[in-house]
Amino acid sequence: MTFPRECWYVAATLDELGDTLVARRILGTPVVLYRLADGSIAALEDRCAHRPYPLSAGHRDGDRIVCGYHGCTYDPDGTCVLVPSQDNPPLGAQVRAFPVHVSGPFVWVWMGTPGGARLRPPPATPELSSGAGWSSTGERRDVAANFMLLHEHYLDLTNVFEMHAEMVPPGIEALPPLEEVQISETSVSYVRELPKAPLAPWETEASGLDAVEAFGRRETGTFVTPGLHRQTYTITGADGPVFELVRLHGFTPQTNGSTRVFLQLAWRGDAVAADAGERLADVFHAMADRDTAVLETMQRCLDEDETPRRYVNVKADRAALRARRIVQSMIEDERGR
Ligand code: FES
Repeated sequence: MTFPRECWYVAATLDELGDTLVARRILGTPVVLYRLADGSIAALEDRCAHRPYPLSAGHRDGDRIVCGYHGCTYDPDGTCVLVPSQDNPPLGAQVRAFPVHVSGPFVWVWMGTPGGARLRPPPATPELSSGAGWSSTGERRDVAANFMLLHEHYLDLTNVFEMHAEMVPPGIEALPPLEEVQISETSVSYVRELPKAPLAPWETEASGLDAVEAFGRRETGTFVTPGLHRQTYTITGADGPVFELVRLHGFTPQTNGSTRVFLQLAWRGDAVAADAGERLADVFHAMADRDTAVLETMQRCLDEDETPRRYVNVKADRAALRARRIVQSMIEDERGR
């Protein structure tokens, strides 16, 4: 499997985790997640140390997990503390416990080198937790496509005319070229300014602004880490921003050909409608359905190609190509370590 491991990924959203054991596959590894009595989250390798059986198929005993096969019992740190058929557990009987960090709705997990999590905090998502006028909503879905297809898709929005024409402000026939692609060693982002235009229906309904007035838009997209993509869409009036929308995608590889997507939308503005959240959730859910269909089709085409073939790149692919290089170099660094 080819994905960077030295990186935080979203394992779940907080509202998914309660008393029950939640099974996930993250970077090819089975993981079981659950909420402890003190409200914190535990993430353990979802395999009993005794035999290849998922702990998530067992049950809880307070903060411990009891395996559903022979009853071996585990503390939240992964230590096996009880084997029913003998006095003491064998020396070293334990499963891996993964570091977890909760920030806003995201439950991040570190699947990399033990101890490495302390060196790199997960990416900040202040719009999801800081208040400051922001509201947010989200959804999750599994997409049968490699996570890099998703990153590349969201770093090139020139597909919007073909795939999501209803999102384009009236009168705009083409997206201006990327004004700026900012590249660092580990991230890439672009900025694009749209000419002034009246509001598209979805913009009016979400922002509460006057539909006939002309507004500017500033759009940015950032490959933050292999686990997070961030887009902003700001509608500007004469005196500055009047509506801001942030679209965050947590991309968590399950296998080479499947990705769990955690979409969170955050918005604020001068005249935001009371039902803006429902409207935005509907609009971006419909977009995500169309995106998913295209991404899964591309993955099928890749799987069907008998020999890997080269596809041409165009100028709009600049940011996506850079993101691919960053991920490749992270994977090579990890292999060389
Ligand atoms: S497989 Fe878990 S206790 Fe035997």
